[in-house]
Amino acid sequence: MCGIVGVLGHNEVAPILVEALKRLEYRGYDSAGIATVNRGRLDRRRAVGKLVNLSDLLVHEPLAGKAGIGHTRWATHGAATVINAHPHRSGPVAVVHNGIIENFRELRAELAEKGLACETETDTETVALLVRHHMDQGLSPRDAARETLKQLDGAFALLFLFDGEEDLMIAARKGSPLAIGHGQGEMFVGSDAIALAPMTDRITYLEEGDYAFVTRAGVEIFDAAGRRANRDVQKIQLDATRIEKAGYKHFMAKEIAEQPIVLADAIKHYCRGGKINLPEELDFATLDRLTLVACGTASYACMTAKYWFESLAGLNCEVDIASEFRYREPPLPQNSFAIFVSQSGETADTLAALRYARDKVAKIVSVVNVATSSIARESDIALPILAGVEVGVASTKAFTCQLAVLLLLALEAGRQRGRIDDAALAEHLKALASLPGLMNQTLTREPTIAATAAAIAEAQDVLFLGRGAMFPLALEGALKLKEISYIHAEGYASGELKHGPIALIDKAVPVIVLAPRDALFDKTVSNMQEVMARHGKVVLITDAKGADEASYGTWKTLTLPELPALLAPILYALPAQLLAYHAAVAKGTDVDQPRNLAKSVTVE
Ligand code: M6R
Repeated sequence: MCGIVGVLGHNEVAPILVEALKRLEYRGYDSAGIATVNRGRLDRRRAVGKLVNLSDLLVHEPLAGKAGIGHTRWATHGAATVINAHPHRSGPVAVVHNGIIENFRELRAELAEKGLACETETDTETVALLVRHHMDQGLSPRDAARETLKQLDGAFALLFLFDGEEDLMIAARKGSPLAIGHGQGEMFVGSDAIALAPMTDRITYLEEGDYAFVTRAGVEIFDAAGRRANRDVQKIQLDATRIEKAGYKHFMAKEIAEQPIVLADAIKHYCRGGKINLPEELDFATLDRLTLVACGTASYACMTAKYWFESLAGLNCEVDIASEFRYREPPLPQNSFAIFVSQSGETADTLAALRYARDKVAKIVSVVNVATSSIARESDIALPILAGVEVGVASTKAFTCQLAVLLLLALEAGRQRGRIDDAALAEHLKALASLPGLMNQTLTREPTIAATAAAIAEAQDVLFLGRGAMFPLALEGALKLKEISYIHAEGYASGELKHGPIALIDKAVPVIVLAPRDALFDKTVSNMQEVMARHGKVVLITDAKGADEASYGTWKTLTLPELPALLAPILYALPAQLLAYHAAVAKGTDVDQPRNLAKSVTVE
């Protein structure tokens, strides 16, 4: 899940590479580095930590050259040190890499026998050593790279730069995406098109197994079998100006605040004239089953959707996390759809799960934010969630937009299966249309939520409870809190509490209860009473009616607008996000780039 970039330009490339790496920092920020060829000679600069450290280094030790490659690292093999930072160099070659070389230990041993020892702990260095070895044997850079690629197992995107070659980069894709950007007498390579957005909007995506020889005159692409391959040049619409904080202190704060707008956009996109507009091939009428697969927050969106597909459409629905699904060999009925949900559309496990399901089910459907992503491109039907670029590592607006699109799918499935008539559908859509307004009202309660979050920030452990469709939101609330504030948090179905977790309750443990005044409210309140009887500090998040009935004895009560039970998981996501955000701010953690994480998880 590292970010890679390369430029064959007209001007000095170091500042261009650093700018592009800024747009890739969401992929990892353990270290960063660049290499250039100048007057025929390769040189590089690397620094540990955020990109700013590399920028500072370049002020004191500039790097000249009009051809260069760059990397921002999420460490897999070896600690975040300068020596392990990319680009890795061996003799005449420098390489940047995203992914994992799975057979690097065997390759290392073979290279050591040839007298080529590794200096770093990384898997990537073996790639540089292999290329060097082949060049020592007299191969050209192109042939050396070709031979090396044949020896590598695993999933990777690689980009090479060579001594003495100011007009050549070699790129290769197996499992991790790579975009080639076309300029006017300039060429670019990036992990994604966003990295290249200010330089070009003309992009060629390498396909699985492709490698490419890039020069300023253009690109020659070969498929995995070494045959010349034609890949389209696509005009990509990317608005680089949207990737700004727009006056907010953090991207996460901006992205939470954007939710009413982006949700309204998504609803408008899918609902017209009292109908839900989805591709015609999405025929749920006689379907036997749905399988929903995702990771992290996206998997909690899928868990919520299971409640909707079952109750609204009477449709059998399995939910799985992609890292388990892909290796379990689950049987999938032919008369079923598999739906893959991913903000980035590049999550390695979700992509592998999609490939597993291909040919086993009637349709591969994806619900994605990045429309140009691998998951979108490999689906039969890709449904955009239209959340706009999400930069903060903690997924917020993508989650609520995923929920909205999944709810619309469930409503349409219910209609097609004869469980929802036109009048009921119109009611549901009317309620959904009111959701952005209710989100705005909820956001006005941010100061109260922030005060509660500041108190929660003192805790060591926090529990989240929910019942029914609020249970996945309890899991999501806990994930959000732990990933950005580093406070240990767990989410439970409220009914599970007395089967173990209640042992954790004491006066130091805040318990956040997500409980709109719905059909399950009384049951949840009983579980809440059990917590309070053991001196647990309850934060009840409910509506005015719920607060009237149940706020007595709670530590804090947060009141949200009333709304139909179906929509509560979407609205109640906002206080969960805000609690996590303000707890993190109170603790002074790095909200947008929390430790050990990356925005796009492209390794399994
Ligand atoms: O890009 P994806 O939606 O496939 O990412 C899945 C997870 O990695 C992601 O949701 C992760 O859990 C977030 N950091 C949660 O905020």
